[in-house]
Amino acid sequence: VIAEKYARKELLNLPRRIRFDVPRDVINLGVGDPDFNQPKFVAEELAKAVLEGYTHYSFGGDPEFKREIARYYEKFGVKINPESQVILTSGAIGALFRVMAALINPGDQVVIPDPAFTGYISRIVFFGGEVVRAPMRKLMDGSFKPNIESIRRAVTDRTKLIIICNPDNPTGCMYTRSELEELVEIAAEKDALILSDEIYVEFAWKNRHVTLMEIPEARERTIIVMSFSKTFAWTGLRVGFIITSPEIAEIIRRVPIGVSPIPTPIQRAAIAMLRRGWKFVDEMKREYEKRIDFAVKRLNEIPGFKCPRPEATFYLFPDISGTKMSSEEYARKLAKEAKVLVSPGSRYGSMGEGHIRIALVKPINVLEEAINRIEKFNKEILK
Ligand SMILES: Cc1ncc(COP(=O)(O)O)c(C=O)c1O
Repeated sequence: VIAEKYARKELLNLPRRIRFDVPRDVINLGVGDPDFNQPKFVAEELAKAVLEGYTHYSFGGDPEFKREIARYYEKFGVKINPESQVILTSGAIGALFRVMAALINPGDQVVIPDPAFTGYISRIVFFGGEVVRAPMRKLMDGSFKPNIESIRRAVTDRTKLIIICNPDNPTGCMYTRSELEELVEIAAEKDALILSDEIYVEFAWKNRHVTLMEIPEARERTIIVMSFSKTFAWTGLRVGFIITSPEIAEIIRRVPIGVSPIPTPIQRAAIAMLRRGWKFVDEMKREYEKRIDFAVKRLNEIPGFKCPRPEATFYLFPDISGTKMSSEEYARKLAKEAKVLVSPGSRYGSMGEGHIRIALVKPINVLEEAINRIEKFNKEILK
């Protein structure tokens, strides 16, 4: 009654947030929160910043931090203007919220792949946008690939925005340069913008990742969403940013959120991270690759599973259709009976049905225990 009386009506259309504490005996591979602890210098930089008086308003964000972000983009051969093209946000979620707030009018269509990261839809719907799904291509080995033709079919004259996630959560695939070029052509035909969520950019395994900013024709209609959450295992420190054209940045800046949402001393620590954090990233990458080798091999030996190796990211998205259970039922029972938490594929869209997402965010000995439990559970249900 209170909700209906007082809440903004768009909020009532959104699913209620489920909050749960994971019991100690449950292995949580359901959430993409990297388990790595920060190098010591991050805490030192943070403390130093506070002691040095970096504790005041930071209206447009620390200019030095934005310059450091521009410098980071040079490694992709991309030149950006730190003042006019970088907007600091509270993680990628903060970026997504601001982009939708800036662009979406009620009735605007937003095309997103199926499957896709769950966080896009609620932010589109909240501003009255209409979600149109573009199914990805599913291959015989259970892996997914981008499907530009299906995006072409999904766009209409009402499409304002096309969202891609590259590298992709949950499927672990990446877009090739020619796929990106085709995507830009489609967007240009309909005069739509493209939001490219590239927060897994550092976790591309065999092939190099191509950022949409590298395609010259894309620059005037592209919004890149980035985050420190996965790159530096910073999920709790909430640092993200948007890279876009000066014109689009100008619109996004008008969203009345006021002061830069990243606390001032954390921006100082973020500068240090961009300068000195790459050894830490390399260590994480080596560890993720070991985890992928280990888990893919083991999961493929389990009855009922087909587990392709991801091209990028630290997620596995095995095909579980051999278990004859819906992904929701499988995940629920696995949590209850085997005490392993995974994310049901149907949450990412109807194309995700028959899959589960496993986040490799635990050390190998814990993954081994989790996979032993999964193996035992599958043998039990397939008896
Ligand atoms: C594709 C994608 N985008 C955005 C986010 C949100 O990230 P952040 O912690 O930076 O808000 C996530 C988090 O898992 C994600 O997987």
